[in-house]
Amino acid sequence: MANQNAKTTNENGELLNETAPMEKHSAPLTAGNMFARLAGIGCLLLGVVGAFLYLGGWFSPQKLTPARFVDEFERVSGIHSGFRHNHAKGVSVRGFFDSNGQGTRLSKAVVFQNGRVPVIGRFSLGGGDPHVPDALSTVRGLGLQFSLPDGEQWRTAMINLPVFPFKDPQAFYDNLVASQLDPNTHQPDPAKGTAFLASHPETARALTIIKSHAPSSGFDNTAYYSLNAFRFVNADGASTYVRWTLTPVQPYETGTGASQNKDFLFDGLIASIQQHPLQWHLVMTVAQPGDPTDNATIPWPEGREQVDVGTLTLDSVESEETSPARDINFDPLVLPAGMAPSNDPLLSARSAVYSQSFTRRAGETKEPSEITPSEVRK
Ligand code: HEM
Repeated sequence: MANQNAKTTNENGELLNETAPMEKHSAPLTAGNMFARLAGIGCLLLGVVGAFLYLGGWFSPQKLTPARFVDEFERVSGIHSGFRHNHAKGVSVRGFFDSNGQGTRLSKAVVFQNGRVPVIGRFSLGGGDPHVPDALSTVRGLGLQFSLPDGEQWRTAMINLPVFPFKDPQAFYDNLVASQLDPNTHQPDPAKGTAFLASHPETARALTIIKSHAPSSGFDNTAYYSLNAFRFVNADGASTYVRWTLTPVQPYETGTGASQNKDFLFDGLIASIQQHPLQWHLVMTVAQPGDPTDNATIPWPEGREQVDVGTLTLDSVESEETSPARDINFDPLVLPAGMAPSNDPLLSARSAVYSQSFTRRAGETKEPSEITPSEVRK
């Protein structure tokens, strides 16, 4: 069949596109055909606007969007002006990362070349309440931003669980909805929790793994996990899938958590970092072909190669109110060249939802943090 869009030339050799000859023979404008044309343009505009509304989720109330996600965090935990919608309670830290050069085998990222780069970070507790009492069982988080000498940044947000309980953003969202407090009992409805687990066997399996790791006594002696897989590319262009773990140098101790003050985890971290710098080894676990890279509920088999790529040292602590970390979005997709996302569906969702949370909190009045500057100086 002839190409209907082929360009052609007129008798003067000028380039014509396929619409030009049609315009030459178009009918004169009457009121009737002008109305038809305007109606046509109107339909076209409606189509374009409709497409935007559809993509924004307006015609599909069930569609999960970053805004609906953040609305749900607000419904579960309330609105706390200026705070993160998850991991709301936190304190900021600073330090540096000493690379030992071993990571260059896996990734050409400048952060893995021998040398030291400055790091700014934030320890946090999971949940949207910035004044929640500390508890050993609450998820602990660590966000880090590495500033590389070539101006690039690497940001990561890790937690102290060895696997993530949810395989995709929809499961995370559905669990948030199921965990809403019953207005009469002020407790989550246990029937909703049971129904969620029955329809998400991967969450039930992940929770069994999580419960088999007793949480340590503090922020300083816990491991933090990337959970999501990432694709590393080295200088030869070879790709490797990895997950990383920060393994504490501070010895593991079990905590009792009994009769403690409401900030005991944060107070313990402040006391510890003021006594001596805190250190973690950054260890890359290298995937074998077939290891799942798209499902953070599943651990990789024991015995996978581990590469210790350097040491993180955190040597000062600061209240959020005085630290630039308050206004950092620890988006896991801020990656330097040599590090790329995997096919894990959580990664792009995290990036989009963190951005929505960040945009909302950036425009809100800042309320004082639970961990105040005077608490840090005690
Ligand atoms: C679909 C899955 C997830 C959603 C919707 C989600 C949502 C959020 C939101 C809304 C924030 C606050 C962002 C801000 O205002 O800056 C946040 C922070 C955080 N998230 Fe997630 N998250 C998800 C998965 C994860 C995973 C898998 C991890 C760990 C591997 C994680 C670790 C953290 C940490 C440590 C923070 C606090 C970082 C900071 O101090 O700013 N999240 N999350």
